[in-house]
Order: sequence, then structure tokens, then C-alpha cells
Amino acid sequence: MEICKKLILIGFMGTGKSSVAAGLSEALGIPHLDMDAEIVSSAGLSIPEIFAQQGEQAFRTIETKVLEKLLLAPDQAIIATGGGAVLKPYNCELMLQHGFVVALQASEQVIISRVQQDTGRPLLQGDVAERVRTLMQTRAKAYDFAHMSLDTSALSIPQVVS
Ligand code: S3P
Repeated sequence: MEICKKLILIGFMGTGKSSVAAGLSEALGIPHLDMDAEIVSSAGLSIPEIFAQQGEQAFRTIETKVLEKLLLAPDQAIIATGGGAVLKPYNCELMLQHGFVVALQASEQVIISRVQQDTGRPLLQGDVAERVRTLMQTRAKAYDFAHMSLDTSALSIPQVVS
């Protein structure tokens, strides 16, 4: 049986990718990697700083480079992507080539409640509910390429992990 080397979590902001990756890592004994954390360490700037100083396009370029680096590494890993990592078709193809892709979903209301207090997401500044609604509409089909999807709206992290 061929061993799949990467388990890749995709999904809109607030669907639980980072927490589920950490939980899966503990349950399976496989290291987990967080794309946003890798971007911050490679740029030496926080995500809001990258957006403010260099703009979203520069962030997307770094994001693709980090994705390539993580996916091409030979070891097994669970990878939590950023919510916008699916915006480039190239990134989606890379994910499908290098791993098993799981899309985490959640309802608009649940996402709004999860991200409401968060100030670290540049795309959700201002009227958070309005920003979430607009972005979710824009990205309605963006996560559909996954091998498997799971709605986390009514689930705890351990339930999603199991
Ligand atoms: C983004 C999602 C964020 C982060 C950046 C942009 C997006 O990651 O990469 O703020 O475009 O959806 P999370 O999905 O982990 O919040």
C-alpha cells in the first residue's frame, strides 16, 4: 500500500485547520506544520505587517513558496494551510499531487462567531460579519477540489480529529 506523505487541511478562516492539525498530529504521532507560522518565520514579519508593508500579492507569493517548500519536503506531515492558499489553481494542483486534501467547512454564523474577536487577520478588518459573508461568497467553490470535506460547525476539535 502506498503511504500518503502529507495530510493537507484547507478551508475558510475559522474552520479549525490549525487546531485540527495539532490534534491530528498528537493522535497520529506525525509532525504538523502551519503555513501561516512558516510565512511569519520566513518573512520575519507578522501577517498583518506583511499585508500592510508589502500588500496581499506579496503575501500570496510568499505563501506559494512556503507551500512548495512544505509539500516537497520528503517527510510525513500534517499541514494546516491558510484560508487563501487555494486561490491559485497552481497551489491546488500542487496539493492534489503531494497529499490527501481535506476541506474543513463551517457555517457563516459559526465562522463569524469564531473570528469575531480576532485582530490578526488583515482580510477581516472593519465589519467582520460583512467581510466574512463577502469573502465566503467569493470563495464559494474554492475548497471543492479536496478529496474529502467535513463540516465542523457542530463538532469539537476532538470530534473532528476522530
Ligand atoms: C487568509 C487566511 C489566513 C492568513 C491570511 C489570509 C485568507 O489564515 O493566511 O490572513 O486569505 O483566507 P487562516 O485561514 O489560518 O486564518
